[in-house]
Amino acid sequence: MTTTPKNIVLTGSEGLIGRSFRKFAEKKGHKVFCLDLKNIRRKNYYRCDITDENSVIQTIKSVLMKSKVDVLINNASSNPKVEGKLSRYKFSNYSYEIWKKGLSVDLNGSFLMSKHLLKHFEKKNKGIILNISSIYSLVGPNQNIYAKNKKKYFGTKPIEYSVAKSGILGFTKSLAAFYSGTDIKVNCLVFGGVKNKKQDHYFSKNYSNKTIMLRMASANEYNEYIEFFISEKNTYTTGSNFIIDGGATNII
Ligand SMILES: NC(=O)c1ccc[n+]([C@@H]2O[C@H](COP(=O)([O-])OP(=O)(O)OC[C@H]3O[C@@H](n4cnc5c(N)ncnc54)[C@H](O)[C@@H]3O)[C@@H](O)[C@H]2O)c1
Repeated sequence: MTTTPKNIVLTGSEGLIGRSFRKFAEKKGHKVFCLDLKNIRRKNYYRCDITDENSVIQTIKSVLMKSKVDVLINNASSNPKVEGKLSRYKFSNYSYEIWKKGLSVDLNGSFLMSKHLLKHFEKKNKGIILNISSIYSLVGPNQNIYAKNKKKYFGTKPIEYSVAKSGILGFTKSLAAFYSGTDIKVNCLVFGGVKNKKQDHYFSKNYSNKTIMLRMASANEYNEYIEFFISEKNTYTTGSNFIIDGGATNII
């Protein structure tokens, strides 16, 4: 079975995984409406802050004036970077503002985007939402893999990231259940760590050793999985969270 071209709304389109998927999807004949915070002039790109309901409403309105939408991919994330100069923090000193921002992008943003696109899906009784989560929704980050000489009480990977990504799992299950008996499916992909040029050797080696496959993912390895779950090939799953992580969460 071949995959029919879809009209896709992709949040966080300018990040590592978003960029890779957009290029892959366009080559496959899909139309991708890209949403991100950056100021970019490109066809089908929209500057949209997904934590701002007005911005979401206006953007979805503009997209729908151009075309129907088949798929929403909730991919944007505050995804705080820890590479380069590793910032270490003590939980007891952690900023409440950073905590709220992380929860807001991943959770509130996914809520707002889904709420306003589902109005359109309900009219057709058809649509697909694919949420993107992380293995840190399932296991806590081992703070020892990020930096040598970890100091007592200090960590590196921001805590709100795990909390937000765990919330996405519950969001997926609950949201799918609202659409029982319809052709509206909601699923979630749980990704493992992606290699990027900024990560230091210490981290990537430690992380890789914690996977069964002994390596990090490359961003483009996730594209085929995303395409499967937004296609008609997925006939019998909704409300599910699928782990694609090189076996990272299967071992200790
Ligand atoms: N990179 C990894 O190792 C990894 C691992 C597991 C899961 N993931 C998940 O995959 C998804 C993509 O990750 P990535 O590595 O491409 O992240 P990234 O940080 O490279 O990209 C995220 C994008 O989201 C955008 N964004 C942030 N706040 C926004 C807002 N308010 N409105 C609109 N856009 C906003 C950013 O501008 C950025 O372009 C995320 O959900 C992340 O949690 C990534």
